[in-house]
Amino acid sequence: MKRITSFEQYTTEYKKSIDTPEKFWSEQAEEFVWKKKWDKVLDWNFDEPDVKWFQGGKLNITENCLDRHLKSGKGEQVAILWEPNHPEAEVRKITYKELHLEVCRFANVLKRNGAKKGDRICIYMPMIPELAIAVLACARIGAIHSVIFGGFSFKSLADRIQDADCTIVVTADGAFRGTKDIQLKGIVDEALEICPSIKKAIVYKHIHADINMKNERDVWWHDEIKFVSSECEAETMDSEDPLFILYTSGSTGKPKGVVHSTAGYMVSTDYTFRNVFQYNDGEVFWCTADVGWITGHSYLVYGPLLCGATSLMFEGIPTFPDAGRFWQVIDKHKVNIFYTAPTAIRSLEAMGLDFVKPYKLDSLRVLGSVGEPINEEAWHWYNDNIGKNRCPIVDTYWQTETGAIMISPLAGITKTKPGFATFPLPGVQPVLLDEKGVELNGNGVEGRLCYKFPWPSIIRTTYGNHERCKEAYFATFKGYYFTGDGCKRDEDGYYRITGRVDDVIKVSGHLLGTAEVENAINEHPDIVESAVVGFPHDIKGWGIYAFVICDNERKDEDNLKREIIQTVTKYMGAIAKPDKIQIVKGLPKTRSGKIMRRILRKIAENDLSNLGDTSTLLDPSVVEEIKAGAL
Ligand code: PRX
Repeated sequence: MKRITSFEQYTTEYKKSIDTPEKFWSEQAEEFVWKKKWDKVLDWNFDEPDVKWFQGGKLNITENCLDRHLKSGKGEQVAILWEPNHPEAEVRKITYKELHLEVCRFANVLKRNGAKKGDRICIYMPMIPELAIAVLACARIGAIHSVIFGGFSFKSLADRIQDADCTIVVTADGAFRGTKDIQLKGIVDEALEICPSIKKAIVYKHIHADINMKNERDVWWHDEIKFVSSECEAETMDSEDPLFILYTSGSTGKPKGVVHSTAGYMVSTDYTFRNVFQYNDGEVFWCTADVGWITGHSYLVYGPLLCGATSLMFEGIPTFPDAGRFWQVIDKHKVNIFYTAPTAIRSLEAMGLDFVKPYKLDSLRVLGSVGEPINEEAWHWYNDNIGKNRCPIVDTYWQTETGAIMISPLAGITKTKPGFATFPLPGVQPVLLDEKGVELNGNGVEGRLCYKFPWPSIIRTTYGNHERCKEAYFATFKGYYFTGDGCKRDEDGYYRITGRVDDVIKVSGHLLGTAEVENAINEHPDIVESAVVGFPHDIKGWGIYAFVICDNERKDEDNLKREIIQTVTKYMGAIAKPDKIQIVKGLPKTRSGKIMRRILRKIAENDLSNLGDTSTLLDPSVVEEIKAGAL
């Protein structure tokens, strides 16, 4: 496997990728199996936006993830190593050959149930190998997968199914999460009541829950599989055909369906996986993210499989049966590369070293972090106690929209600094802009992080609404892709992400739109209006602070708060539960009716001394009342 092996080489490759991007990326793309080679490497225009990579090329990504490895003699190697929620339950080891077979079979099941190229298929499943099989089966037949995180509840699921007009949903009877059984099928049933586009639900039996199967609509995975052959030719896809949709939160209440295309996504995920983690053949790679998020798509499924790696998939949670579970799994499977989120690190740090001590952790070679800024303390704890000061940490910065890692050290090659994502990967051209959109040159500057040139796995559109893609990413600063993040470039040219500068909050690494959480809160019949902001939280990075106006005089505040939490859990999912709820009589609004979130943010952060100018408010006295009741 070709990869960068020294910092000097990184510098040369980086320069090459900037001076001659088309040459650079076409060399990377040569490595793959193409049904037809591309005619043109790149066409782009950020104003539309319109970006096309490897135009005219024909391929199927699953031939590169699976068939190619069978041909090169990797058939018997484990592709997916599955560790169940219950430590005593059986581990599953699925070789490349077996995975190929299962993917082909399930691809035929999809076809048998009416799926065709271009259809959208919703996948709402536990973290079991069948989730990866379903994803790859969609790609095999050219259907566009839309994986919805299993922690989302019925309304979030329904919104996303409706937005993409999905025709099939692939699900399971339920999921095991620690001591809990999650009734996934029940949630699907509720969602499907308002999703007429769904014609079929294919259900995998996993927890043996008692569920309802609706005649005509619902079929069992294990029954369907009996009717089909295990051969399925890979559909011919154009480079720019959409591969998948993945929803992410934005500043409006409606989530955005980020669309990724086939060839560019393949090239970027493969390149970044190999180089960032410095993967060696035969190593066990463990990404703890759920496949419902981009990290799971790119570094549990596609990146590792493209590189012929062994990818560990874990169904459970870090604290079951106890807070040593991650470390036990690392020893049990001799994990070499471990990739997780700062929130997980902080929460395990808080549980104490007694949970780490029983484990050797000597198989580890590289550690990774993703999803939010990693604070120095957590970085050191990770480095000292898990990596034992001998494993490089790659702090990988990227987004759902970028498809692949953008700014990151290369393991063992880039000199790291705690809290810094360090340098852009080859092909990535970051710039920092001031508020007016002027590029800040040189080192020792801080601004808004943008990219001025496309990379292969850049977002192509937001499903069904191209204008929204333009508005959200390409309109703030003309000619640039805007990340929504603040960033510092220090005196040595190292990049450090400082966090979001828009109306989304990173809670435990999950991006949540404040408007989406507000909509869920407002579903409570007694709530008239709400405003949600983030506040710094020791474990989660950011917590959710909700200011709510109640329309009748409820005296039982504690009950009301509990009900609000239940409402949010029901409509959106437990990840969006507010940490603090303050009942208020009014919200600080401008004369035009806009909520001044800046003031609420300061109150939530307990920074009451400097609330800025409140004179433009319709009723400045509400601020005093809110301050007095601040939690
Ligand atoms: O704010 C940045 C933060 O996560 C956002 C992207 O979230 P999402 O699309 O859910 O993708 C997460 C996994 C790639 C970014 O805009 N973020 C991600 N990685 C880092 C980070 N912030 C700081 N450091 C990181 N390494």
